[in-house]
Amino acid sequence: MIVPGASSQALAAALADELGEPLAAVEYDRFPDGETLAAVPAFDADRAVVVATTDSNDAWVELLQLQDAVREAGASEVVTVIPYMGYARQDEAFEPGHPVSARAVARAVSTGADRIVLVNPHEESIADFFDAHVTVCDAAGRLAEPLPDDLASPLFLSPDSGAIDLAKATCAAYGDGDTDYFEKTRHSGTEVEIAPSDADVAGRDVVIVDDIVATGSTMSEAVAHLVAGGAERVFAACVHPLLARSARTKLERAGIERIIGTDTIERDVSVVSVAPIVAAAVDAVEAA
Ligand code: R5P
Repeated sequence: MIVPGASSQALAAALADELGEPLAAVEYDRFPDGETLAAVPAFDADRAVVVATTDSNDAWVELLQLQDAVREAGASEVVTVIPYMGYARQDEAFEPGHPVSARAVARAVSTGADRIVLVNPHEESIADFFDAHVTVCDAAGRLAEPLPDDLASPLFLSPDSGAIDLAKATCAAYGDGDTDYFEKTRHSGTEVEIAPSDADVAGRDVVIVDDIVATGSTMSEAVAHLVAGGAERVFAACVHPLLARSARTKLERAGIERIIGTDTIERDVSVVSVAPIVAAAVDAVEAA
């Protein structure tokens, strides 16, 4: 039985199709004081696969509720898929007195899961914060699928060296092009500085690949450099299209050709599904 969190209903349906398993009719409700309630119908399955992106505090609580509800309903195995894991960027105590928020939420979710599946967590080391078996899947290759077939002398760029493997994976899946990366300095949550690479981008189509587009500061800075350098078309490709606040406007103003994201976060730019790789991970988990 595939059990969707409210923010992952399309992905859960795609996953149910991939796995040939039924989709639970979860009911989402809210009490007058603001508390959430996610309830599952009675079901007859040993294994429940809870699929919930945790892009808000409510979504985290709802995930805990669904894990608990499926156990109450009789599931003997609970696989928890977190397509986009919120709080993952708070993976260390950055100042004295700060929490390691990613560890705190990982521990909480581990109590209700036999196994966990994550899609491109901000750092792979986040898997160590969970007290349950974790499978990490990489969706970067999926980002090549919606790209036009006729990219001119394509260049796949990451906004910083840490994301170069994503650019390489997308480039490999596309089957043509070079890879490079910018140097990024973050000054605050919304202010970033990008130092261009040496690559000559004039007349070329460039695909910038990152794990998350959150405020859009990173991506729009990178786009602006590429447009100024004479790039022909600039595509922004990301696994998790969070697109918070004015991210969309920043990207449009910077001169983006198109934003491409996956359905780990369900937005209008989520044009490619991670369901096939999540299904494979769930099956691999089954075999483990
Ligand atoms: C940071 O290391 C991540 O890979 C992304 O580059 C970052 O989260 C994007 O954030 P924003 O869109 O707010 O610049």
